[in-house]
Amino acid sequence: MAKDSLTITDNRTGATYEVPISYGTYPKYGAAIPAADLRKIKVADDDFGLITYDPGYTNTGSCKSAITFVDGERGILRYCGYPIDQLAEKSTYLETAYLLLHGELAGDRELAEWIHNVTHHTMLNESIKKVIDAFHYDAHPMGMLVGTLGVLSTFYPNAKNIFDEPSRRRQIWRLIAKMPTIAAYAYRHTRGLPYVLPDNNLSYTGNFLNMLFKITEPTYEPDPVLERALDVLFILHADHEQNCSTSAMRNVGSSHADPYCAVAGAAAALYGPLHGGANEAVLRMLNGIGSVDEVPAFVEKVKSGKAGRLMGFGHRVYKNFDPRATIIKDLAHEVFKVTGVNPLLDIALELERVALDDEYFVSRKLYPNVDFYSGIIYQAMGFPTSMFPVLFAIPRVSGWLAQWQEMLLDEDQRIARPRQVYIGNDERDLP
Ligand code: CMC
Repeated sequence: MAKDSLTITDNRTGATYEVPISYGTYPKYGAAIPAADLRKIKVADDDFGLITYDPGYTNTGSCKSAITFVDGERGILRYCGYPIDQLAEKSTYLETAYLLLHGELAGDRELAEWIHNVTHHTMLNESIKKVIDAFHYDAHPMGMLVGTLGVLSTFYPNAKNIFDEPSRRRQIWRLIAKMPTIAAYAYRHTRGLPYVLPDNNLSYTGNFLNMLFKITEPTYEPDPVLERALDVLFILHADHEQNCSTSAMRNVGSSHADPYCAVAGAAAALYGPLHGGANEAVLRMLNGIGSVDEVPAFVEKVKSGKAGRLMGFGHRVYKNFDPRATIIKDLAHEVFKVTGVNPLLDIALELERVALDDEYFVSRKLYPNVDFYSGIIYQAMGFPTSMFPVLFAIPRVSGWLAQWQEMLLDEDQRIARPRQVYIGNDERDLP
């Protein structure tokens, strides 16, 4: 009879140890041993015991989670069991955010209440305008977002009551509601345009477009195709299990910091070019390539290490295709019917074709990721490239908050505190 355990023989001592194996929903994925059990493996009684060495946490399960499932080999992404393509087709971003935070789809009444509560927390305290005004005219909007999220913590001291459910719920409404407002104010600041108040008669993305692009018209009417396209992009970006920024959210939150500080930390992690900053880097790369004819030469330069990485390609988890990239590529055509075709699309298509036909990219399982086509859509919709990571952060807030809440309520969780393998000097005396 097979046993769900692992027997380890320590060749240093000849001792054997039995360690249990546990499973999640799928026995094929996430079979895990408790890392703390390795501490029993020692040469002498006063040894610390074995630890695992795992830079970048490439093979470490930091939590048990019921929120998002990703199968990178088969290109599968599901939120609470629902496939991402079905959500992109039939759901809205706010419905999806509710699902991530509650684990189930909202009924009609719950959904109406949820939308009402998020809609009625979109306004920012007037003093926040002064904070945004204080940024230099060419400040990066992502820097403004990270800074302003930290500032919000000072406006809501009650948010420190992280184990008080009604307080937590209120901060969740506020954060989801205020992200588009901060983002729009940051954008208007860089343009020298007056801030636009939220319009509660519009949808989440319709109102965001209103706060971004309204000029003198008494009522802003968002284009329904662009409003829905942005909503779909928000659904696709809402969560992606234990990535860099989500782990940052859980790590900061594990010290019981308030959710505004934790979200500021997560947004800072998202800012980097290897994560949420990649969509901005894709646009810079496509502009740099300049024309379709230059694509093969550029790909050769990437392969020889002379042009950095092919931005928007590759993923730590997806080693087949990124299902979000497929949906976004189709969405691009819908958006271009309204905005006109982005000339960078031809370069992107050729780049994808050349790379997917090249042994270097095929053998390393490098495929277009979520960021490869999203930037082209955002640009066609009128967003400057510096806004791209901000557009990633707005919907990801619902995933961060869902993961943060799950972490807080998980009795297994403690303050995040990894170990290290010390390789420095032994004790020595000052001269
Ligand atoms: N272009 C060229 N070569 C690449 C790329 C790329 N985009 N990505 C990976 N490689 C190569 C890498 O040089 C290495 O080759 P070798 O084995 O010869 O040294 C091999 O592929 C494995 O790379 P890795 O760095 O070990 O892979 P990783 O899992 O640590 O990195 C990644 C994942 C997303 C950071 C990386 O693929 C990358 O830098 N991509 C470009 C940035 C990007 O598009 N990021 C957005 C990710 S999706 C959205 C999000 O989650 O934020």
